[in-house]
Order: sequence, then structure tokens, then C-alpha cells
Amino acid sequence: MPLKVLSVASEAVPIVKTGGLADVVGALPQALMPHGVEVTTLMPGYPAVLASLGRSKTVHVWDSLLGTPARLLSAKVDGHALLVLDAPGLYVREGKPYSDSAGHDWSDNWQRFAALGRAAADIAGGAIQRRGKTAVFDLVHAHDWQGAMACAYLRWAPFIDGQRIPSIVTIHNIAFQGWFGAEVFPRLGLPETAWSIDGIEYHGGISLLKAGLVTADAITTVSPTYAREIESPEFGMGLEGVVRARRGDVSGILNGIDAAVWGPEHDPNLKHAFSARSLAKRVENKRALEIEFGLDAGEGARAGGPIFIVVSRLTWQKGMDVLVEVIDHLVGMGARLAVLGSGDAGYEMALQQAAERHPGRVGIRIGYNEALSHRMQGGGDAILLPSRFEPCGLTQLYGLAYGCVPVVARTGGLADTVIDANPAALAAGVATGIQHDGVNYYALAAAVTRASELYNDEEQWGRMQRNGMKADFSWASSGSAYADLYRRLVASVA
Ligand code: ADP
Ligand code: GLC
Repeated sequence: MPLKVLSVASEAVPIVKTGGLADVVGALPQALMPHGVEVTTLMPGYPAVLASLGRSKTVHVWDSLLGTPARLLSAKVDGHALLVLDAPGLYVREGKPYSDSAGHDWSDNWQRFAALGRAAADIAGGAIQRRGKTAVFDLVHAHDWQGAMACAYLRWAPFIDGQRIPSIVTIHNIAFQGWFGAEVFPRLGLPETAWSIDGIEYHGGISLLKAGLVTADAITTVSPTYAREIESPEFGMGLEGVVRARRGDVSGILNGIDAAVWGPEHDPNLKHAFSARSLAKRVENKRALEIEFGLDAGEGARAGGPIFIVVSRLTWQKGMDVLVEVIDHLVGMGARLAVLGSGDAGYEMALQQAAERHPGRVGIRIGYNEALSHRMQGGGDAILLPSRFEPCGLTQLYGLAYGCVPVVARTGGLADTVIDANPAALAAGVATGIQHDGVNYYALAAAVTRASELYNDEEQWGRMQRNGMKADFSWASSGSAYADLYRRLVASVA
């Protein structure tokens, strides 16, 4: 019998995406199928989700789900089993998944995502669907603070007598913790005992992520290094004590990438497909990128210097303030820069000013553009990720797969996925990119210098590109790690 898992998340590719969380949630069903695990994803019925459904079936109606009428719809999108929580009062509105169009968080986010967790617990705990005497799902896998309340309701307000459904919470980013005031606690429908320092209470208010961390049977995060980092105040951001208290239950499982979507041999977004054996064809993509970003054209394969790219949320986490400071140095090295991103208005403006200051050397696109992000990975020479913290990071993995050499801060998943071109790694011929310690002007400027110098060594650079392209960042081993963890937890509560 396959293991049945309910994955609970606020976004999933190909339907709604604000970041890497969506890539991972969207990839998990396929990644787990070969391991005998059937994943159904539960997500909120935002307008974009409802519009994508095609044929759907109503499988349950709540007169009041935490005070709001709601329906549960079941559908298949791209072959993936979806359950959609259709609660128009919570989710049908103009704006983004967590905020209005101006970027202000929705004030009822506590209710929007507690309701998602409550629904997940109702579904998995057997309140609304059963297979005979047992629940429909063997395990619940919740993602980030938006999914975390599923674990809390399963533990604090269970349904099925004598059967406990185990749960996992995955931390994709501990910086987002779902904080709300104490006044919402009575409206969550939790027992009084949940209000404690070992429960949902957090500095006098509540944290939905904390509720998940203290109630889930296991905690995962998206890289082994980040799993260790979040035990410290610098990275744990207030939750380090909770993480340390559960040390034995915390593990890091690296994200994979979906080779069907991210493969330079068959990527329809690229002007020219290429592989590790036909890297020379890549130059056509680079020429196209120069035109697209208004960069000075080079003649010959290496003329014009390297093109560094950035595809990112423009935020402090991603070190965008330091990137802005380093641009003059980068241009001074004879390199060029192409940036695609959106985020904090201050960084957007500073990048635009840099592009005006350096016509032909710096190009910037503000916005979100999936196809362009593929073309940049397929034509850029190196991708910069000066992140202050990075739970896993996906764009360096896409860079590796596309021969766009990653230049990254040594933190989290970036530390775990890039092999620094230090002398030993170069001599052994195993380097795949460049790492720098610390995120500040000197560290990033030195990394850009090292990258530019290595770029001039055509043989070394080509070897780094090919090493990255041959590295395996598919879901194969991480899918198997999740499946093993699921089975262990299911066996432990049986
Ligand atoms: P995070 O989730 O912290 O933003 P990740 O590296 O895990 O970081 O994932 C970011 C995802 O969003 C990647 O798939 C990346 O390609 C994509 N992305 C980020 N910004 C943009 C953008 N402006 N246009 C297109 N894709 C973007
Ligand atoms: C978060 C993290 C990112 C990670 C992604 C998917 O958004 O910031 O590092 O890759 O989640 O797990």
C-alpha cells in the first residue's frame, strides 16, 4: 500500500509562486512517487488557484471553519492531486498571497492560515473523510508558518480515537514566524493548555510557526547547514531555543530541482539548447542576453568580460544592499551585470541608478519573469548570491545546471551545494563555484575579483561549468530521505 501524505502549503508551482517554497511544494509529489508515497497538496483557494482548477468536486462543506464558511474542493492539476480550501471570505481578494497590492500584510493572516491548518487536521484526522475506521492520510507534512498550524491542531485537538496521525513541519525560512497578538488566541479553538511557553505563546503574543515546531513529530529544514545554523541566535531569530530543545528531531534535507523544467538540453526558453558537451553553443544565449539587457556587445566568445547575473527577491536577506555597493568595483573589473528582481523599493531604486551610471555595463529589470530567469541562467557567466542567510537557495542550483557559475556566501544551502574554487579544489578539478565568508563590501568585491580572474582562465572556467552541470541535484536522494522519514514516523505511532 502506498503511504498517503497530505502536504499543506500556501503556494505551489505551477499555480501560485512567490518564492522557492512553491518550487519545492510543487515538486514533492513527483519526487516522492518513485518511493511509494502519494502526496496530495492542500492549499488556499486564492483566485488564481480557483481559476486553475478546471473540473473539481466539492468533498466537504464547513458551515463555520474558525468562524468562516468554507468548502473543500478536490481536483487534479498537471496530474497532481490537489485539495483546495475554498473560503472566499479569507482568500478571494485582490492582491498577493500574504499582502495587499501595496505590500501590507493582510490583518487577518492569522485566520487565513490557522483555518488552513484546521482544515488539514480535519481532513487528515478523519473528521470529514475516513477509509473504514482509519484516516485517509498516514501523515501530514506542513510547510512554513502558513502550514504549521496543521501540526498544532492534530496534536492539541485530535479527532480519531486511538489513532495518532504523525506530522512534520518543514522550515523553508525561519525569518517568517507568523506573529500575532494574544487577542487572537481564544479564536483559534485550541485548549487553554496550548497557551504556554512550551506551546503557541511567544513573547506575550503567538507564533504560528512556533506552534508547529513544538507539536510536529519531526522538524526538517532545507539544508543540513541551515539545520545547524538555526540553533544559534544569529540564524534562529528568536526560535533558536525551541530548535535546540528539539535537536534530536531536527534534520536537514536539501531541496532538489526539477530537471524537466530546469534542463539546458531541452529548455524551450533558450535560444540555443546546450549540454556539458556542447558548451560552445552557450555563447549565442549570452549574445541574446546582451541585447535583452542593453549591454555592450562583445565580439568572440569571451570578449566584453563576464556577465554576472542576479535573479532574486530584492531584500536584506539576499544581501542586495551589499550588491549595490559592489557594482562600481564589478564594472571596474571589466565585468557586466544583469539583474532581475523585485522587492524593497530602496534597492530597486539603487539598482536603477547603477544602471544609469553604467550604461552598457549594468542592466536591470524590475519585476517577476519566469522565462527571462531561464534565459539569464542560460546566457549569464556567473550568478551572484550574497545572501546573509539562505535556508537552501534554488537559483544557485539552476546556475550549476546551466553552466552559470555560482558565486555565493558560505551559508545554509549555499555552503552545502557549491564547491569553492580554492587551490585544492582547482588542483583536484572538482570546483563548481566561488564562496565568500561574510556578506560585506570586501568579501563580495574579492569574490567578484576571483570570479573575473578565473573567467579569464578559459580552461579552468570551462571545467567549473562542466563540473556543476554534471553534479546531481535532482530530487532522487532527497525524495528518498523524505520517504524514509515519513515511514519512520508512521511506524513510530502505529
Ligand atoms: P527564496 O525562496 O528565498 O526567494 P529560492 O532561491 O529558494 O529563494 O527561490 C527563488 C525562486 O524564485 C527561484 O525559482 C527563482 O528563479 C525565482 N525568482 C526569484 N525572483 C524572480 C524574478 N524576479 N523573476 C523570476 N523568477 C524569480
Ligand atoms: C525559502 C528560502 C530558500 C529556499 C526556499 C525553498 O524561501 O529562503 O533558501 O530555497 O525556501 O525551500
